[in-house]
Amino acid sequence: MHERGFMKRERVFKYSLCCRLIISLAIAFCLSRIGLVSPALGQSAGAAPAQIDYDETTHTFRIDGGGVSYMFGVNQNGELQTLYWGKRLRSDDPIPPAHADGGTSSFDLSVNATPQEFVGWGGGLVVVPDLKVSFPDGNRDLVLRYVSHAIQGNTLTVTLKDISRDVVVDLIYRMDEETGVLARSARIENRTQQPFTIEQVLAATWNLGPSSNYQLRYLTGRWVGEWNLQQTTLHPGKVVLESRRGSTGDEVNPWFAIERTDQRDEDVGDVWFGALGWSGSWQINVETDWQNRVRITGGSTPFDFSYVLAPGQSLETPKFYGGYSDEGIGGASRLLHRLELDSIVPEAPHRRLRPVLYNSWEATGFDVDEGEQEALVEKAASIGVERFVMDDGWFGERKDDHAGLGDWYVNPQKFPHGLKPLIDKVHSLGMDFGLWVEPEMVNPDSDLYRKHPDWVLNFSGRPRTEGRNQLVLNLARDDVRAYVYGFLDKLLSENDIAFLKWDYNRNWSEPGWPAAPIEEQKEVYVKYVQNLYSILAELRAKHPHVEIESCSGGGARVDLGILRWTDEVWPSDNTDPFDRLSIQNGFTYAYAPGLMMAWVTDSPNWMNGRSTSLEYRFLSSMQGSLGIGANLNKWTPEDFAAAKRLVAEYKAVRATVQDGALYRLISPGNSEYSVTESVARDGHEAAIFAFLHSSQKGQPYPQLYLRGLDPDAEYSLHMQEGKLADGTAQRASGDYWMHHGVSISLRGDFQAAFFTLEREAAR
Ligand code: GLA
Repeated sequence: MHERGFMKRERVFKYSLCCRLIISLAIAFCLSRIGLVSPALGQSAGAAPAQIDYDETTHTFRIDGGGVSYMFGVNQNGELQTLYWGKRLRSDDPIPPAHADGGTSSFDLSVNATPQEFVGWGGGLVVVPDLKVSFPDGNRDLVLRYVSHAIQGNTLTVTLKDISRDVVVDLIYRMDEETGVLARSARIENRTQQPFTIEQVLAATWNLGPSSNYQLRYLTGRWVGEWNLQQTTLHPGKVVLESRRGSTGDEVNPWFAIERTDQRDEDVGDVWFGALGWSGSWQINVETDWQNRVRITGGSTPFDFSYVLAPGQSLETPKFYGGYSDEGIGGASRLLHRLELDSIVPEAPHRRLRPVLYNSWEATGFDVDEGEQEALVEKAASIGVERFVMDDGWFGERKDDHAGLGDWYVNPQKFPHGLKPLIDKVHSLGMDFGLWVEPEMVNPDSDLYRKHPDWVLNFSGRPRTEGRNQLVLNLARDDVRAYVYGFLDKLLSENDIAFLKWDYNRNWSEPGWPAAPIEEQKEVYVKYVQNLYSILAELRAKHPHVEIESCSGGGARVDLGILRWTDEVWPSDNTDPFDRLSIQNGFTYAYAPGLMMAWVTDSPNWMNGRSTSLEYRFLSSMQGSLGIGANLNKWTPEDFAAAKRLVAEYKAVRATVQDGALYRLISPGNSEYSVTESVARDGHEAAIFAFLHSSQKGQPYPQLYLRGLDPDAEYSLHMQEGKLADGTAQRASGDYWMHHGVSISLRGDFQAAFFTLEREAAR
C-alpha cells in the first residue's frame, strides 16, 4: 500500500489534507473527552486495513476488501473514471487504464459516455450530476478534475477541483475489510472569495458495465404495509427512488439491489447493492443509458433544496454504502447484515443481544397509570421478560393523541409519585425499564406550543397542516435543539431508564424556517437531520448505557444513518403474525433480523381480526428480536405456561437468530409457505422457523433443503415446536441436511414449526 500522486499541486493538497486530518483527529479526541461524540465514531479504528493501491504509471486506484475489488482511474481528461466493481480479482488480472470514451455522436458527448465517479453539472453533462452549483456571477458551469489523493488505513480521499474556480471536492472511500462494502461520501469546500449556492449534491455515482439483463429490486410500503420487495427490469431511462417527506419514509426505503437476470437465484449470481446513511429526504437514481450502462446516484434529494456555502465553508454529504455479492440477493443481505451489526450500530462490533421486552401499547393504549402498569410488570416478569417498556400516555396532559406532545413532565394524576415506584418495581423483578418518547413533535394543545408557536416548521401566514393532531418541531433551530436535548437529558438523568422508544409519527408539511435568512431557509433539510444525529450522539455519550429504538409509526425511519445512533428499529405497527412474515421477509433484504423488534400481540389481531395460536404468534416474532405486546391481564394459566416455554426457547437461540447468517429458504411472497434459517456465526447451530398459511388438497409440506452448514460436520436435529414427518432422521451430516433435506409435518391453517440443528463435536 502506498500513497502517491502525479500532479505538482498534489503536495500542497496532501499537506493540507494531512493538517486537516490531524486537526480533525484532535477535535474528535477533545469532543469525545467532553462527551460530544460517542465512542462509536472511532470504533472500527482497530479493524484490519483494507488494501488500497494507486498505480502511478496507469493512474489507477484499486480498493480491495472482503470478496470485492473496486477500481477507477484518472483518464486523459483528468476525469475520475470507474473501471471495475465486482468480485475480487487477482492482482495480475488485466484492467485497462482509464480512457475517456470519445462519445458516439455529436449528441452523446464524451462526458456522458464516460462512467465517472463523481461529476459536476457542466461541460455538456445530461446525466444526473452529483454536484450542481450556481455562482453569484451567474455562472453555473462546474467541471471537476483530479488533483491529488491520500490513503489513510482503509480510507482513500481523492481531491477534485473545478477547472477554473476554487471549488474543491474530496471524495471519501472507506472500505469495510470484512464485507467489502464501500462507504462513499463527498465533501464540498468553497475556497473562492464569494459564497455560492449548492442546488444539488449527491454522495457518489456507482457505475455498472453494459448489460441488457439487469433487474432492479427495491422496497416500498405504507403504514401497516411496509417492506414490499419490488422488482423491475432495467431499460434505458431513469428509475427514481425518493422521499420528499423530510425523513426516510416508508413509501420507499433508501436501499437498492441490481442483479443479472440471466443468473438469478436467491443464493447464486452477481448482485450489486447499496443503501444510504441518511434519515432526511433522499433520492436514489438508477439511470440506464443508451449503451445499457447503469449509473446509480444517491444522497439527500435536490427537491426543494439549496445550500449556501460561504467562503471557507464545507458541506459533507451522507454516506452512500455500496457492495457486491456473488451469492445472489441472499448473499447481498447477509453482507449488509454483517456490516450493520459489526460496524454501523452504536455498540458495534460488541453489540449486546436484544433483551426480550414487554410493551403494553396494544393492550392499554394511552390509559397508562401506576397501578395498571405495575400489575403488568409482575406478569411480564413471570414469563422471562427482561425489559419493561411504558409506551405513549405517561406525560403532559396526554389522554389521547390530541394533546401533550412537547410537555415532557410526568403526568401527576397517572403517576402521583413520579416514575420511580414503577421503575423500582421493574428493577425488583430483575428487568430494566424503557420509555416511549416522541421528541421532535408538538401538539398545538400543549404548553410548549402555546409558548413557542414559532418553533414548528411553517411558512409565515400560511396554514400549518396537522397529522395525527401534531406538528413537527424545527430541529434545525438551535433553541429547539437545546430544548429537545435538555428534556431528554433531564429525563435520563433523573430516572433509571435503560431504553427509549424514539417515535416520529408524521411527515413534514410546510417545511419553512421563517427565522432564518431567506437564502438559507432550504438548508432545513440538512440541518434538521444533522441536529437529530447530534442530539442522539450527545445523549449516548452522556448516558452510555441507554439503548434506543427508532420507530416512526412503524418502519418509516429505518436507514443506515439512524442506525449509527440507535440499537434497533420498529419495522411496522402491523403485528398480525401472518402479515408480519412478509413484512419481516422484506425487511431482511436490507436490514439484519437482530435489529427488528417483533411483538407477540393479542388474537384476534386489532387490525384485521385474524385469529392465530399463541405458538404461531411467538414463532413469527422469534425470527427477529422478540417482544411481547399482548394484554397479559387476559391470558390464561396455559398461555403463561406456553409463553414461558417459548421465551426460554427463544433465549436459547437468540444469538443465532439476531447475529447469525440468515437464509430465506422460502420467502412468503405468493407461496403458502415461509421458512427462514439462521446459522450461528461459529456454525455450531442453525435455527429454522417454518410456516404454513393453509393446507390445500392434501399437499404435504415441502422438503426443506438447509443452507450454510458445514457439509462434513455431523448435526443433530431437535424439534422444538411442531412435528417432524415420520421416519425423519435425527442425526446426519451437513451435506445430508442441505441435499436430502428435512421433512416436517404441518397441516391446517396458520401452522408453524421450529427446530434447531446442533453441530456435534468431531469424533
Ligand atoms: C406509533 C408507534 C406505536 C405506538 C404509538 C403511540 O404509532 O408506532 O407503536 O408507540 O405510536 O402513540
